[in-house]
Amino acid sequence: AVPSVKPALHVLMAGPRGFCAGVDRAIKIVEEAIRKFGAPVYVRHEIVHNKFVVDSLKAQGAVFVEELDEVPEDAPVVFSAHGVPKAVPAEAKRRQMIYLDATCPLVSKVHREAEHQSAAGRHILLIGHAGHPEVVGTLGQLPPGSFTLVETEEDAERITVPEGPLSYTTQTTLSVEDTAGIVAALRRRFPQLTEPHKDSICYATTNRQGAVRAIAERAEMVVVVGAPNSSNSVRLREVAERAGCPIALMVQRGAELDPSLADGMAMIGITAGASAPELLVQEVLDRLRERFTLTLEEVVVAEENITFKLPALLNR
Ligand code: F3S
Repeated sequence: AVPSVKPALHVLMAGPRGFCAGVDRAIKIVEEAIRKFGAPVYVRHEIVHNKFVVDSLKAQGAVFVEELDEVPEDAPVVFSAHGVPKAVPAEAKRRQMIYLDATCPLVSKVHREAEHQSAAGRHILLIGHAGHPEVVGTLGQLPPGSFTLVETEEDAERITVPEGPLSYTTQTTLSVEDTAGIVAALRRRFPQLTEPHKDSICYATTNRQGAVRAIAERAEMVVVVGAPNSSNSVRLREVAERAGCPIALMVQRGAELDPSLADGMAMIGITAGASAPELLVQEVLDRLRERFTLTLEEVVVAEENITFKLPALLNR
């Protein structure tokens, strides 16, 4: 019999993709906390927005809750990478709990910058998505009324702000392109707007969007490995679509992908959100291999070598 030959498919691999330094640190904090204190270690909110990561930490002894009052006093608790309102560590301190803050240092930097702007007497326009835990955390750094949330360019045209000096800051995982549009609209309407040193979209978001754009311009389909509640992953799918890629879809696991979608295609692209492990990218490739003979090409637009230190409490 003639062996059946699988059709060839060329896969562009976005570089960088997947884990950023903040996600890597947050996961290590939970793992190290379990090692140091023993299970269970409580985690307030999904440590990073990825079910696979959360499930593997659960298997190691992490217990995920939404609020601090669900954590017993004598158990250690970790705050997620997205950051928390100031009231949360304050409450943990009051209850004399052992807590570890896995807030990404780049999110903490946004918190400190907001405090600085507010101390200088400026009202702050926060560009971000209502209800996202990072936005909730940033709003919770200052007394109510310190911020006005701006979600879209239409918001930028519509909002009213208190008289006096103004500043702005952003969620770290926004679309670079959309944010530039929002800032331009704000600048037009509010000449008194003080420029921050730079917008707060982080290096990982910027690089992953640049990489997905590079593959989306060449690919007939782009697959983003990530979760629907992961802000940076959702943005990657949008960027791919806007770069003109005919099909841009998101999957959480390899099994979710219907490989026949690539029938008749010569070239597709793959990327992963900052909270999606490389293992899941490999799962998607294996899924495609059921139907195609793959050739892989890494398309690298930026090299990353950032790492963040773990909290001192874990080194002791
Ligand atoms: Fe931090 Fe950016 Fe990752 S803010 S958690 S490095 S996506």
